Amino acid sequence: MISYPPEPFRIKSVESIRQINRADREAALAAAGFNIFGLRAEDIYIDLLTDSGTGAMSDRQWAALMQGDESYAGARSYYRLKMVVDKIFGFRHFIPTHQGRAAENILSALLVKPGQSIPSNTHFDTTEANIRARGGKPTNLQIDEAADPSNHHPFKGNMSIEKLVAFIEATGPENIPFGMTTITNNACGGQPVSMENLRQTSEVYRKYEIPFFVDACRYAENAYFIKLREQGYADKPLLEIVNEIFSLADGATMSAKKDAIVNIGGLFAMNDDDLFQQACNELILREGFPTYGGLAGRDLDAMAVGLTEGLEEAYLSYRLGQTAYLAGGLLDAGIPIVEPPGGHAVYIDAGGLLPQIPRDEFPGQALAVELYREGGIRGVELGSVAFAHPDPETGEMQYPLMELVRLAIPRRTYTQAHMDFVIETMARIVARRDSIRGYRITYAPQLLRHFTAIFEPL
Ligand code: F0G
Repeated sequence: MISYPPEPFRIKSVESIRQINRADREAALAAAGFNIFGLRAEDIYIDLLTDSGTGAMSDRQWAALMQGDESYAGARSYYRLKMVVDKIFGFRHFIPTHQGRAAENILSALLVKPGQSIPSNTHFDTTEANIRARGGKPTNLQIDEAADPSNHHPFKGNMSIEKLVAFIEATGPENIPFGMTTITNNACGGQPVSMENLRQTSEVYRKYEIPFFVDACRYAENAYFIKLREQGYADKPLLEIVNEIFSLADGATMSAKKDAIVNIGGLFAMNDDDLFQQACNELILREGFPTYGGLAGRDLDAMAVGLTEGLEEAYLSYRLGQTAYLAGGLLDAGIPIVEPPGGHAVYIDAGGLLPQIPRDEFPGQALAVELYREGGIRGVELGSVAFAHPDPETGEMQYPLMELVRLAIPRRTYTQAHMDFVIETMARIVARRDSIRGYRITYAPQLLRHFTAIFEPL
């Protein structure tokens, strides 16, 4: 059994959780249409739905909240955030947004024209949906190793440079308003991207004069993986690594609900003066004045402190250690996962675990339901429910690389005993896996269907 560095904090405030009984869990599942997004949070024992906005703020962040300056324009909170954002990201401009997808919306609204393509290693669902909502075509060009859950590539989140070049040549750079890379690569198992790969990606985009935006939600975890795994970075301070990452790009979108350890917030940063001007106009129209961007002043202060704490090495070492601990326990129990584990989550290979369930009957959905049924645990399906969609031209169903269930670990929130409970629950599910059946969708909206779809057990 592996261990991980003890929490570099002690607990000053707690929130009660409880496990409701099995009959009540069954009733809750039926009432939710077997969609775990439809469950009430109070009926969940350990909530690993997401690491987004679910972390525990520190005493320093709570103290910073009290100093929030709620002035409509030019608040001190904004300037405190700006100082930190400038130090970490180093782009010429930034605007706060209420979360990551608001930044993605502004980026897509300003740059995407119908029919244009936007390549990335792998877009996350909201990024993809924001591009599609403007008539664009998101394209994923991750390395082939990403499709093999047991492949131990140290930077499995990487972009395939060959695929990127071929894609640009085939599409024409004039049809690509910008390119992206997601760090860490959430939809591909929370896997990191190497500095070398970021550099090569940047060189390709620059060669074809395609602006390069980083989806930076989990940039700190990615930077720590670079420090641990990439030659030449072991002795570099994290801030230098992070500065190097962003120096390769023209801008970034970020959900601060991840590595900035806040419950709400995001940002959109860029070098281009015109784009900044237009982004401010768009922000004013839909979100708020550029010095608050749809947030309260206090949220900006919490974000400023959280960005700094999220880059602390003691924290990141514990953080990645806890994820690796959960992954190790699941592997010991014979559960197939995406290896090596990523930063913020463990991804169970539901397709491998439940081979009797075909992709169009959603093995990941079936496993997510069983986790709740067995232990009151909530994970999230990241497979065909979330990502399969018909090809707009042929109508043929396009499936994602894998059928996964993600157990995302909120930051500074759960302990080793909680992780042990998750491992024990999964082991009980594995013991009866042959009897688990798939699902049929009885309602789904056009975009982002996983949030509100209704299911029927088969
Ligand atoms: N990009 C990535 C890589 C993300 O993981 C997310 C959110 C977003 C963008 C959008 O940010 O939620 O602040 O609007 N991911 C969450 C998750 C929801 O559970 O992985 P947002």
